[in-house]
Amino acid sequence: MPPQSPAAASISAQDEKILVLDFGSQTAQLIARRVREQNVFCQMVRHDLSADRIREIAPKGLILSGGPASVYDKGSPHPDPRIFDLGIPILGICYGMQATCHALGSKVQPGHSREFGHKTCHHTAQDPLFADVPTDSTVWMSHGDQVQDLDREFLSLASTDTCPHAAIRHKTRPIYGLQFHPEVTHSECGSQLIANFVKKIAKCEGRWSMASFIDQQVTSIRERVGHRRVICGLSGGVDSSVTAALLFKAIGSQLSCIFVDNGLLRQGESDQVREQFADHFKTDLHIVDAQKRFLDELADVSDPQKKRKIIGRVFIEVFRDEAKSIKDVDFLAQGTLYPDVIESGANPDGPAATIKSHHNVGGLPAELGFELIEPLRDLFKDEVRRLGLELGLPEHLIWRHPFPGPGLAVRCLGAVSEQRLKVLREADAVFLDELEKAGLYRKVQQAFAVLLPLQTVGVMGDGRTYEDVIAIRSVDTDNFMTADWSRLPFDLLQKVSTRITNSVRGVNRVVYDISSKPPSTIEWE
Ligand code: XMP
Repeated sequence: MPPQSPAAASISAQDEKILVLDFGSQTAQLIARRVREQNVFCQMVRHDLSADRIREIAPKGLILSGGPASVYDKGSPHPDPRIFDLGIPILGICYGMQATCHALGSKVQPGHSREFGHKTCHHTAQDPLFADVPTDSTVWMSHGDQVQDLDREFLSLASTDTCPHAAIRHKTRPIYGLQFHPEVTHSECGSQLIANFVKKIAKCEGRWSMASFIDQQVTSIRERVGHRRVICGLSGGVDSSVTAALLFKAIGSQLSCIFVDNGLLRQGESDQVREQFADHFKTDLHIVDAQKRFLDELADVSDPQKKRKIIGRVFIEVFRDEAKSIKDVDFLAQGTLYPDVIESGANPDGPAATIKSHHNVGGLPAELGFELIEPLRDLFKDEVRRLGLELGLPEHLIWRHPFPGPGLAVRCLGAVSEQRLKVLREADAVFLDELEKAGLYRKVQQAFAVLLPLQTVGVMGDGRTYEDVIAIRSVDTDNFMTADWSRLPFDLLQKVSTRITNSVRGVNRVVYDISSKPPSTIEWE
């Protein structure tokens, strides 16, 4: 069977969908999230996707996102003008509205300064877009240009004190525009406006749910795999576990899983994967104990990028050897998520790639020779969590913080050794345990300990000590691209510090990391 194009596979999988044409706004992904909250499948596509391709995909509606350009800029992005003749309902947001108006004959006024912040939007017209929206509501503006002279074919639906056409619609076609950003939570009726567009104007019923997603995926995985065998790498994290659970539901014992114990895992992690597997998947599991191999290769390596490279290479070698020992494998299942698909630019219909912040060492190269199955490639992280719960995976697994592919190697600053990993593991376990006890583990997005490559002076009993320093880090973030340090209670920090210095041999000092990202990163290496 020829490899199926991922784009064709993912786009044809859902019968009722909205497409977001991405003009580069920071909040374009949020539009897709808001639409999905209406139980309607939504994908981001490139801003200039042709009208022919859109007709083929047959979405129920199109949303043109905002973006940083001005319609008059040389080289500014424009949609295929024929999309306005397709008869498909269209909502232009901010730049998307300006591009729509520009294409259909209205005049966009170049802004002299950027308008940014809360505004009161006043609407008067009886229009389905404003159903259940109060006459006056707060909206979030962030634009330079705005539409000034509205073409006769358009009606103005709403205004603010500085923007005469905050919302517009075409008189005869289902084409709408909003100058503000309904997708951000600062626009208090934003979700309602998006719901109105999706349900009342694009006439979506809202049938997309995790249960229907599971049914569709199970059917399509069964059709694709037939009687052949699939392998799946398990890391102990949410994405690979949910992928395996979905595969297991679809093809049962035709699934083999490989778990590589690289010796860089957190305390108890290897056992947890084993137990979870025994409880949930009951299929062929290969646990490869490669601890010594990884640690030997890492001996005396301190440079973070070298560590990452070594771990990536050895992981692939180990995985490949184990996969070879399993007979007749045709497919490799991976837990790639939608934000990765968008960022990688892998989908020919998808938006242009942005810069990927790091290399995921868990990703296996195409040269392994398997066809890829990526059942989560249409989902955002919180949707994967919902899917995992629906598939019966335990809560503690679903809510696990992300853990980097290179594991504790990038948290053990300086050279990695079994002894230093032991210290780090113990300190990390104390911190996570106290965080759980304080009911804060699920409130922060990532928390961990780091072992620093230095000793400091301390005093214990009557004696002077010269021992290791542990840094603890906890961050609050929506997307891991930016992050703030968690304002953890002092009492909790004090408990963690006392417990670590009392119980972890070789540590006499604990510090709390109060750096945001940027300028720092979440990991220290
Ligand atoms: P940074 O440190 O770049 O981390 O702010 C952002 C998120 O990515 C995780 N991370 C990695 N994940 N391989 C991974 O699979 C890596 O090499 C890697 N480096 C960082 C990090 O834990 C955080 O969630």
